[in-house]
Amino acid sequence: MSRWKAPHTTLLAAALVAASIPLATPLTSHAATTKTLAAGPVNPGFETGDLTGWTVTEGTAFGPGAVSTATTYWGGPFHHRGGHHLWGHAAAGDDATGTLKSSTFAAPSHIGFLVAGGWDPQRLYVALVRDADGARLLSQTGTDDEAYVRTVWDTSPWRGQAVHLEVVDRRTGGWGHINLDDVRVGAAAVRDDNGLAFRTLGQANQPTARRDYAADPLRPQYHYTPYQGWINDPNGLIHWRGRHHLFSQHYPDAPKWGPMHWAHADGPDAVHWRELPVALTPAPPASPTDNSGIFSGSAVDDDGTLTVAYTRFTDTAAHPGATAETVEIATSTDGVAFTPGTEVIAQAPPGSSAGFRDPKLFRDPVDGRWKMAVGSGDAGRGKVHLYASDDLRTWTYSGVLTEGDGTTGTMWECPDLFPLDGKWVLLYSTNEGGQSLQRYAVGAYDGSRFTAERHGILDGGGDVYAAQSYEDDAGRRLMTAWMSDWNAKEPTRIGGWAGAQALHRELFLTADGRLGQRPVAETDTLATGTPVTVNGKTVQGTWRIGRGDSARLRTMVDLGATTADTVTLRLKASAAEATELRYEKSTGTLTLDTTRAGYGTPATFTTHAEAGPGNTLALDILVDRSSVEVFTGDGAALTARAYPRYQESDAVEFTAPTGRIRLVSASLTPLGSAVLPDRPR
Ligand code: FRU
Repeated sequence: MSRWKAPHTTLLAAALVAASIPLATPLTSHAATTKTLAAGPVNPGFETGDLTGWTVTEGTAFGPGAVSTATTYWGGPFHHRGGHHLWGHAAAGDDATGTLKSSTFAAPSHIGFLVAGGWDPQRLYVALVRDADGARLLSQTGTDDEAYVRTVWDTSPWRGQAVHLEVVDRRTGGWGHINLDDVRVGAAAVRDDNGLAFRTLGQANQPTARRDYAADPLRPQYHYTPYQGWINDPNGLIHWRGRHHLFSQHYPDAPKWGPMHWAHADGPDAVHWRELPVALTPAPPASPTDNSGIFSGSAVDDDGTLTVAYTRFTDTAAHPGATAETVEIATSTDGVAFTPGTEVIAQAPPGSSAGFRDPKLFRDPVDGRWKMAVGSGDAGRGKVHLYASDDLRTWTYSGVLTEGDGTTGTMWECPDLFPLDGKWVLLYSTNEGGQSLQRYAVGAYDGSRFTAERHGILDGGGDVYAAQSYEDDAGRRLMTAWMSDWNAKEPTRIGGWAGAQALHRELFLTADGRLGQRPVAETDTLATGTPVTVNGKTVQGTWRIGRGDSARLRTMVDLGATTADTVTLRLKASAAEATELRYEKSTGTLTLDTTRAGYGTPATFTTHAEAGPGNTLALDILVDRSSVEVFTGDGAALTARAYPRYQESDAVEFTAPTGRIRLVSASLTPLGSAVLPDRPR
């Protein structure tokens, strides 16, 4: 458990220690009374429509009105069971506090329940409490979401002892409530009524060994994720002294956004990652609500010195009169330890009312100077500012690199400008009507202005944002992105972490001038085990090629010989759920559908895929424990997070309810972990 002792992890530490360590001296003297104890709590799913069997022990948060029949909230369905659930917000809102306890029962082998509401392990939780001494044996907080996620606890260490559940709400303000439904005990806690086994999720199930990622059923195995806490944008990407560096916007204390740090990993290729110490740490917050931190930025090699530029964000609510966004530079000579930041741009240029952030450094081949692109927006239009320098310290404003027409967002975040295959490409991230989008433009650049010739969306899926690119030593233009966005549900919060970076991709221009992408070649090195390969296969009905929650499926479909209107693939599939990929032959529309995928954002995402040579469709599909990335032969991509509920949900199937699908080939390869051992300390 030693990793939980770092000073910044105290909040999580308290919760996790309480959650996962059996008491040293189990009270066993209850064996005689076990027979008389109930097998589980009375009214375990609140289906009486009231609090029968439950006792309000404090406060007003759990008044009678807390038992709710509401099926949806502002963000979608609750996914509760039966007609009722305990919605901690319903009786008295976020500001009410209170506690509720269940009737006493004999601790079974397992307890499972649906939990939702705010994330706050110290003030919002469902706890298993021993009657004899009031010891809190296990506890589970919410996910900052109203949609339920199922926790499963192994309660065998206390089997037979008299216990009860406590629902605790001591938090006021935003997300100051916790929700509970469908408490199950024993075999019913592990296996659902449909015969499928629930995935074992929750804080109590987190690995205690450092980065034992295999233990978490929702933890991607070959995508970079934070061991604990939160990540968003990839930052500072660079191939430096033979190693690929990946920094990430990071909040170590909670699985949600907060005062930003830069997490840091490096590796010998663009797919395996070794965790390094947090590279950039903000000053301690001035108050509990001070969100000042180190925002996104980029890296270059300055004559052997690793140099990063980033936005210093100062939360003006906590620091009145300060400038919210400035640019700083920090350097490292060993690629691990960084100097404190030096301010290089103290003030945004005029016309930056929507923001001024995310500096992207590059050496400009047009004039040989250092350039810096900074995201901004004004008067309803996103834009990018450009600066020039000879020493990375003194910067001259060169004007607006390019700006939108008002239809592509009001603030362009994370700009990135680079040459590719004879053109220039601009990446930028926007919010359009509440929708996060990763956009790009292909065009011309003359050393100070970028002129777009065509526009596109980088990835048709819902979970690619804040993309950043770099050129590696082999001259490839590589890119990764935050595999989520600001609207996404983050059910992995149930285990104390949130956020993942997309698989590194190689960028190229397609024959028709679009920005194409494919998984980096080193993805092949993740392969473990024996692939299942078939050639020349006709599918009628459903054909399962195999199973895999960390796997790669490559297939070539003969569209001419396929009589089904739609080529359908079921990924992460069981009888109860699946992430579906459908290619509609007549329109060329490729759809990734997470509406029945499990927890997470239910949606359908589309892109267009041209048929390839000989009227074929080539698909390269990367499935990880909570993600699916689809690449087509013509460089289009669809990326979405998907979080199955059941252990059985890992089948990979082709389906043709009517007609047939003709496969030229299909190959399913198991992929292993991308996590490299820590650097020796
Ligand atoms: C993009 C972004 C950036 C900012 C960072 C803060 O996702 O909003 O503009 O620098 O995240 O974490």
